[in-house]
Amino acid sequence: MKNILLIGFMGVGKGTVAREFTKNSDLFAIDCDDLIESLENRKIKEIFKEDGESYFRDLEKKTALWLEKSVKNAIISTGGGFYKVKNLKKIGTVVLLDSSFEAILQRILNHPNAKNKLAKRPLFNSPKEAKKLYNQRSKEYKKVADIVINVENKSPKEIVDEIKKAL
Ligand code: S3P
Repeated sequence: MKNILLIGFMGVGKGTVAREFTKNSDLFAIDCDDLIESLENRKIKEIFKEDGESYFRDLEKKTALWLEKSVKNAIISTGGGFYKVKNLKKIGTVVLLDSSFEAILQRILNHPNAKNKLAKRPLFNSPKEAKKLYNQRSKEYKKVADIVINVENKSPKEIVDEIKKAL
């Protein structure tokens, strides 16, 4: 089986869905931001602060090349900007988790650890700026996706079932 890549905006639930996907399966879940943090031995927030966004984007490209070369049979959750890497489609089947911005914001704010969820995402500092980014990206996400799943008001299990049906 090919890798499955989950793309979509910050806070849409890519990591949660990837972990749900591994239940009752022999797939491993891999998270691109986790790979980058372990490669750099520091948090995403620190990478942005100390070296800036373009340095981080280069790390995403490096991670994408490694995934293409070295990873098979995995469900891979990506950061919200990872969809721009050139070899995206070579890594696996691209599944977009789609949602309105308002539902994403609610999802984050409803989380018991909402403060931390926002603090660890440098590009979600202000909802106004994040919404602008969302508007810029939403069409681009759809362009690169092989499969689009609307995730609003759905449980992780329902989302996984829909992805499996669509594959
Ligand atoms: C980013 C999303 C983040 C993380 C970084 C940049 C983006 O990942 O990769 O802060 O450009 O949308 P999540 O989508 O998991 O929040």
